[in-house]
Amino acid sequence: MDSIIIQGNGPVSGEIPISGAKNAALTLMPAALLTDEPVTLTNVPRLSDIKTTNELLQSLGTKISMKDDGQSITLTTPEITNHLAHYDIVRKMRASILVLGPIIARHGIAAVSLPGGCAIGARPVDIHLKGLEALGVNLDLIDGYVHAKAPKGLKGTTYELPFASVGATENLLMAATLAKGTTVLKNVAREPEIVDLAVLLRSMGANISGDGSTEIIIEGVETLHGTTHKVVTDRIELGTYMMAPLIAGGEIELLGGKRQILESFCQKLEEAGAQITETTRGLIVARKNANIHAVNVTTEPFPGFPTDLQAQMMALLCTAEGTSVLNETIFENRFMHAPELVRMGANIDVQGGTAIVTGIKELRGAPVMATDLRASVSLILAGLAAKGETRVARVYHLDRGYEKVVSKFRSIGANIERIKE
Ligand code: EPZ
Repeated sequence: MDSIIIQGNGPVSGEIPISGAKNAALTLMPAALLTDEPVTLTNVPRLSDIKTTNELLQSLGTKISMKDDGQSITLTTPEITNHLAHYDIVRKMRASILVLGPIIARHGIAAVSLPGGCAIGARPVDIHLKGLEALGVNLDLIDGYVHAKAPKGLKGTTYELPFASVGATENLLMAATLAKGTTVLKNVAREPEIVDLAVLLRSMGANISGDGSTEIIIEGVETLHGTTHKVVTDRIELGTYMMAPLIAGGEIELLGGKRQILESFCQKLEEAGAQITETTRGLIVARKNANIHAVNVTTEPFPGFPTDLQAQMMALLCTAEGTSVLNETIFENRFMHAPELVRMGANIDVQGGTAIVTGIKELRGAPVMATDLRASVSLILAGLAAKGETRVARVYHLDRGYEKVVSKFRSIGANIERIKE
């Protein structure tokens, strides 16, 4: 397993290009199952989760070709030759559940392994399943697999999600595009990745309105056709790198960064003392003055503060002036970076879904352990500002969501290297 070593190296400077969004690509790719024509996605990030999704789709009958060093992927599914998504793949990547809606809509029968939990929580899929039942799918849970049947096809319905689940919104939106009649989905997620999926589906001939709001209306169509679509910018990668100058000092420009996909996050950073300037190339970020000060944060579904940036925010607040209160409301166990930051000298008191962070003068480098994707990168950010050497073990988590992470940090002056252990 690889480790990443960072030497605290003072203020950062330079520029970082932001890649296409992992959490958009992981739903755009299964959408290609909905048609027998080629769907080409460009600006695709080169990540291990994308590779896993390629393997999964190929096992279902999708032909995949790549160009531009993997940034452009063409997916063609003449027919679904296998309707079973195996546990071995699904357990590696929970987002595999997003093939369920497209397979059942196109093929009428599907068997997808239940994803199981992960480090940050139990991650049930009950909302996905209840929504598909509302669309007329018969479901049986047998030996850890969801067996889904819709021999007469899906039927438009009105379904209100009990929680604005991102994945459930994506699964149901994709399934409803081929349902007979009108589907109204209420209390849906509003993330930019949902809008990007709706843009792709409309370009395939789907009839969708309301994406980005709490209610999406889909008029089912007979078939969908191929298209070419550029994956939206990764707002979580963007927000992650915005932290670097705030934690270590200095100033950087994030190429392709746009405020409107991270508005509430940007407002919170400005409240803490960040200076964010929009340019024709992206966003320039620096501290407004010498110090960052404490702020209170509560994670919420979009347009609220993103849970995927909570760990990075905690790393910043470890050396802010004053005491901050962080409430994590989306996942039940998403503070595993806290004890690792405490190893670096941070003063953090976790009580259930709340973390109280009392800022200290300076973090000290230490050996720490990555536990999940966003926790891993929060430890690298902390290492940028810490005195001495920080060694982050189990960095394979990073490969799931951060393309060229070492070279991107190095391009702004970080003293960082990856070693095999
Ligand atoms: C997506 O996960 C993202 N993953 C997550 O990013 C992100 O943290 C999350 O949305 C919230 O924004 C991808 O897009 C691949 P949810 P998803 O369904 O769809 C509960 C990262 O780091 N829930 O909105 O799984 C669930 O347990 C990852 O890039 C149910 O109870 O998120 C959780 O507590 C991590 N029943 C909450 O809702 C369900 O059927 C949010 O889940 C579905 C979800």
